[in-house]
Amino acid sequence: MAEIDVAGFDLLDQPGDFIADPYRYFAALRAASPVHPLSDGSWMLTGYDDMVRVYRDTETWTSDKKLDFGPKFGTDSPLFEHHTTSLVFRDPPDHTRIRKLFQAAFTRKALAVMESRIEALVDGYLDDLEEAGELDLVSAFTFRLPVEVISDMLGVPAEDRLLIRDWAAAILGALEPVTGEGPLAAGNRAVDDFKTYLRALVVHRRANPTDGRSGEVLSALIAAEEDGERLSEIELLHQCIFMLNAGHETSTNMLSHGVNELLRRPDQAARLRAEPDLVTLLVEEVLRYQPPIQINNRRATVDTELSGVPLPAGAFVYLMLGGANRDPAQFADPEVFDLARRPNRHLSFGLGVHICAGNSLARMEGVVAFTKFFQRFPEARLAGEVKIADRLRFREITELPVAIR
Ligand code: HEM
Repeated sequence: MAEIDVAGFDLLDQPGDFIADPYRYFAALRAASPVHPLSDGSWMLTGYDDMVRVYRDTETWTSDKKLDFGPKFGTDSPLFEHHTTSLVFRDPPDHTRIRKLFQAAFTRKALAVMESRIEALVDGYLDDLEEAGELDLVSAFTFRLPVEVISDMLGVPAEDRLLIRDWAAAILGALEPVTGEGPLAAGNRAVDDFKTYLRALVVHRRANPTDGRSGEVLSALIAAEEDGERLSEIELLHQCIFMLNAGHETSTNMLSHGVNELLRRPDQAARLRAEPDLVTLLVEEVLRYQPPIQINNRRATVDTELSGVPLPAGAFVYLMLGGANRDPAQFADPEVFDLARRPNRHLSFGLGVHICAGNSLARMEGVVAFTKFFQRFPEARLAGEVKIADRLRFREITELPVAIR
């Protein structure tokens, strides 16, 4: 394996073998250049403690992306409107006001209702797999659950779920560190189409407040919009788009990675069957080992420093979550996948005020899906090459060929 050229490493023009194993690069950078300069003047972080400091200090580190997305998308573009309105890219007090509206969807009671729904959905998908020989588990299983759950929460009809998937891919695709004309145009179209679609959904929901199986989040957001002061119409639409995007691709990839890692380690799969309570630790280890979101960003509001490196006001940083999650100062034997790892304070859901609002739901999806899949299909094994998408921000398995029996 070739030596890594740390000094010459540039995330914005990364080496050809980076996606296949980014963790090798993170280890080298963390040791030699944990606050690493990139070719456009930004910085890449690979150490756990630096990232914790950045997440926790919202005075020094802003999530607001207007400065970045203006030149990238154009300030009058649909992508700019979307990505600067959704809560993840806003600071307090706006962030706090919007975040409160999401809480209703994730109360203990709401999650308990969701749990039985998730169990029934997983049983149904696994029934469908019974007769299969070999198949792609992404399309047959790991994609189906999250998109169904998040669409339910927003009252999206079943027949429209593939539309959601395609719009989400186009909108999130435009967030790659380097984006070409084609993906930008597709992203802008997707935001416009998504808004038109959601406007109609909101009109329908207003006229039929009790219609549909659930859609609690949508109802809560509509109530806030009607209240006038808490949410504008544009904000309402963009929070819905964000939820639909945030809620499925990430969870799909957590499920795909979990199945992939465990099928590669039959001894650990057997241990899970013998000790099913380990499943909660397994979910955390999958998240640590293969963070579905690989990058978060922040910008310095004042002159500051990290690991002794001075950073001027305006410095833009890439938080490489896969770097933090394998930092030997935080995790023993970080390159080892250990389904019973404890403690496991990974950063895959972020930290601080923006910590993932859906983390309990995502964890629940993982617990139910892994438990049932590995119990029901003890002979399942990989049946071909597992394909990873050529993307930096999201660690996506595009094909997971599995022989079920
Ligand atoms: C394994 C699955 C998931 C992963 C790895 C994940 C990861 C993350 C991360 C890293 C952030 C923080 C971004 C930042 O600080 O810049 C975040 C925020 C968020 N996530 Fe997730 N997420 C997952 C699933 C979900 C689900 C299922 C939902 C909704 C149902 C969701 C909704 C959100 C929301 C609303 C935010 C914004 C929170 C805020 O800005 O206050 N996520 N997620």
